[in-house]
Amino acid sequence: AFEVELRRSGRTLAVPADSSVLAAVRRELPDTLYSCEQGFCGTCRQRVLEGEVDHRDELGGTSHALKAVGEDAERDDSMLICVSRARSERLVLDM
Ligand code: FES
Repeated sequence: AFEVELRRSGRTLAVPADSSVLAAVRRELPDTLYSCEQGFCGTCRQRVLEGEVDHRDELGGTSHALKAVGEDAERDDSMLICVSRARSERLVLDM
């Protein structure tokens, strides 16, 4: 288990081993956007402010869509919360 802080919402939640970050976040923020839940579509991408991400997605942590529009998406600046997890004990997301 690890902790995720939603900095803009001012909430911190625990993500158990059998739950995705997305599932935990949706309990606090039901409007959180997602689609494939398989690390493929990029809909659930969120900016990471602190912490080390354990990327588990098909895209290797960098959104092809973001690249296509010319944004320089650094691998550790964002994560797909439906599949990726934390390598550190705590992640801080910009949401
Ligand atoms: Fe599609 Fe997360 S919901 S990548």
